Amino acid sequence: MIIGGGMAEGNLEAPERPDIVPGEREFIAKIVEGRTSGIPAVSKLRTDDRVLARITDGIYRQPSSALRELISNAYDADATEVVIETDAPRFREIRIRDNGRGMDAEALARLIHHIGGSSKRTSIGAIVGTTDDSNPNLSRKGRKLIGKIGIGLFSVNQLTSHFQIITKVEGAEHRLFADVVLKTYNEEELPADGKFDSGSVHVISVAAEDKDSHGTEIILKAVRPRAQNILRSLDVWQRQSEKNGSPGDEPEPPPPWHSGYIAADAQNEGAPFTVAPNLPWQPHDDPLTRFQALFKAVSDQTEFTERPELGRTLDTYLSMLWTLSLASPVPYLEKHPFDLGANDGVMVFQLSNTGRGRAAPVELAPDQTVREKLGLKAGADDPAGGFRVFVDQVELHRPISFTFWPGRTKSFTRTMLFVGSYRPNLEKVHPDLRGGDLTFESYLFWNNRIVPKENNGVLVRINGASNAIFDDTFMRYQVSEQTRLRQITSEVFVSQGLDAALNIDRESFNFAHPHYQIVSNWVHRSLRQLANTHKGLGDEIREELKKIQSAERATKLDRFAASMWEKARHQSDDLPPVVSVFKTSLEAATARRDGVIALDRNQLPLAPVSNSKAAREETAHREQVAKAVATVLDGFGLLTDMPYARQHELIAALIAVFYEDAQDA
Ligand SMILES: Nc1ncnc2c1ncn2[C@@H]1O[C@H](COP(=O)(O)OP(=O)(O)O)[C@@H](O)[C@H]1O
Ligand SMILES: [Mg+2]
Repeated sequence: MIIGGGMAEGNLEAPERPDIVPGEREFIAKIVEGRTSGIPAVSKLRTDDRVLARITDGIYRQPSSALRELISNAYDADATEVVIETDAPRFREIRIRDNGRGMDAEALARLIHHIGGSSKRTSIGAIVGTTDDSNPNLSRKGRKLIGKIGIGLFSVNQLTSHFQIITKVEGAEHRLFADVVLKTYNEEELPADGKFDSGSVHVISVAAEDKDSHGTEIILKAVRPRAQNILRSLDVWQRQSEKNGSPGDEPEPPPPWHSGYIAADAQNEGAPFTVAPNLPWQPHDDPLTRFQALFKAVSDQTEFTERPELGRTLDTYLSMLWTLSLASPVPYLEKHPFDLGANDGVMVFQLSNTGRGRAAPVELAPDQTVREKLGLKAGADDPAGGFRVFVDQVELHRPISFTFWPGRTKSFTRTMLFVGSYRPNLEKVHPDLRGGDLTFESYLFWNNRIVPKENNGVLVRINGASNAIFDDTFMRYQVSEQTRLRQITSEVFVSQGLDAALNIDRESFNFAHPHYQIVSNWVHRSLRQLANTHKGLGDEIREELKKIQSAERATKLDRFAASMWEKARHQSDDLPPVVSVFKTSLEAATARRDGVIALDRNQLPLAPVSNSKAAREETAHREQVAKAVATVLDGFGLLTDMPYARQHELIAALIAVFYEDAQDA
């Protein structure tokens, strides 16, 4: 059939288009006819494999997964800006708008008729305009495409069964409005003929004055109650309200930073807050300042605990901002690790790709970056002019910082960055197993501590995006490294290959895939190189410090505690910590920032009963006991991950066991 003259796009009539399915051309024609007739083009969403059924099975668990897919689609469409608007803390509706290429009738029809069959990374891409003309792996403006499978958009199903797509391509005189209603199957209801009717679509065209504008907006209507409740952190707030009913068990306190809460019966407009929001930023802050404030809110938790945790600091919504930032191809909060330079106080090493290789120190010229010195490409300038993502006026940035955290033992006063790249020769692997070529760059960053805890591990990114969180097993590294592994943040930037090893949820890997095996072996070899270098340097520094420390350890008790610490940590090459007792909690907090185990005497049973000389001596002695107790507990790893207030409770309790006057409390 012939399509009206308005259809300049694509080449639908070309005989080499076996990808066009029955009904697709007719649907495009109906959209075009609708411009004059005003009659909507209607189509069923049909798919003959189980793809959509899989989507309704809920392969994507977190609400953030769906938003992540929509952000990826905007990136693939060469957008430079994505704006997400929610009605937090209600979450009845979510909108996501981009200034990307948009979709014409053909692209929209394709989307509806080819669920589970992306045009990206295929020869169809050049014809329908989703890819570069000569390289199907690149967007039209040269970005490495994220999409591949063709189901990402329908992951919104876990958020809603009703959404709208409003989209326009540059130069078009019409804007397309698609209204999509998804149908959810139970496993028992699946039709016997294997044809899944997964919903329906109505499309209308609306004349557009702004001929030059382009982009796509997706409106998620009537967010499902289940997803809404997750986003509202309902579990947290319900736990709090149940507290009064059941004395005894104290529920975990709510996260200090949150977007507020409106109780379930108050979902209507204008309902008052049940819990007023406590956001880390000020209303007048700009989007970057807001994100910085979010990051600071998390790292400032070091005031209460050595290794802050996201889950205890942020509600689901704020955590989602964090997770999306980690997953998306957005800039880093400060700078890309490859853009660190000689003035950033980091020791740089180049990783070796050989089995028994050692990391080699890298000398940077005063103004040189790691990227320049080693010719690294990941995170270099975006070919489409940058990619910025805003959620409710917060501009997302990768929440990874490379600034130094002081350690307890003072052995390291600088961070370490280990950098490498790898492109294995796979010629000897049988083509059926090879899975194509593999190329990646990577870094392993060592710091005295990793804040927050969730940034500890390795994160694999394919073409700038990642669907995972940091893997703190380091791809199942089998070597026990007591503290060192907890001090590493690592990312692998894959520019070629590995996506065949992704499972369908795109959040986990098939461990047996050769590409995954190669990456994980490389990461493990690199961890060994880091460990050797770190240990070697540490040994030198420690020898020096040990001499000074043993001179300083005045009392027998002090020396005893230090030797117990070392015994408890026999595998470790660290030194016993510095423990000090302070007169005020403020002084203790300041000292903690320098990595000292700092005790606040007001929270310990040390106070003298009188001001006599004997009483003062008793206090001084108990201070020594408290320090020794803290040292021993730390040696056994019991203070790690314990909030500071709790540490004091434990130490006070142990002291009280031996001093009757301290047992009154
Ligand atoms: N924001 C968008 N802008 C332009 N086109 C889009 C957008 N979102 C989706 N599309 C189109 O819909 C298709 C299907 O998207 P999706 O289901 O995420 O699969 P994939 O990204 O793997 O192709 C894309 O290939 C693209 O053509
Ligand atoms: Mg996609």
